[in-house]
Amino acid sequence: MPQKVIAIDGPSASGKGTLAQRVADALGWRYLDSGALYRITALYARNRRTAWDNEAAVAALAQALPVEFVEGSVLLDGEDVSAAIRSEEIGMGASRVAALPAVRTALLQRQHAFLTEQGLVADGRDMGSVVFPDAVLKVFLTASPQVRAERRAKQIGVPLAGAGFERILADIEARDEADRNRTVAPLQKLPEAHLLDTSALTIEESVKKVLDWYREK
Ligand code: CDP
Repeated sequence: MPQKVIAIDGPSASGKGTLAQRVADALGWRYLDSGALYRITALYARNRRTAWDNEAAVAALAQALPVEFVEGSVLLDGEDVSAAIRSEEIGMGASRVAALPAVRTALLQRQHAFLTEQGLVADGRDMGSVVFPDAVLKVFLTASPQVRAERRAKQIGVPLAGAGFERILADIEARDEADRNRTVAPLQKLPEAHLLDTSALTIEESVKKVLDWYREK
């Protein structure tokens, strides 16, 4: 039986979050930002002075994450960390802790718990491969590194030329490389996933494409 899940996987800054949230709104389904769980784990480890490569200790923190998702905000230990988890530093930390198998296992059940009868749109790196392998629709979302760096720069108010921009581009390429080449749950396009390159598409066009694929099912 296919699961009532649309799995949207893809590299950093490909627009997964915006697309997944809009598709969820259009269908009246829930939304899971799985990357946020890895980001929160990285932040929590830093707050607890736990090294990002200490697998057992970070997995224990991930297992017991005191996190709540309340009206679009992320609360860690009751504190609003929605902005803090979006920094590039925490993004890098997320990528580091995400490479540890015990951390991924610790976060698995928490991700499964997001699925209810209402349906779920989930975005990340391994939604279709590991977390929801029976998803009714799988989408692999991408865009060129240049386009993704421009989107990220606009989001955080960095000019589209110069050292700040070059750093964003380099960070995106480094994270792509790390996410694709790790041994556990690497970023990959599954044969059954629909490829959606958004380099030349608006958000509306991307949302429509995914809804059309779902309705054709
Ligand atoms: O916003 P961006 O796409 O850059 O990152 P994110 O989706 O918030 O994910 C942050 C990091 O968490 C990624 O670089 C991945 O290494 C990791 N991640 C993962 O391994 N598996 C997921 N399902 C989601 C994120």
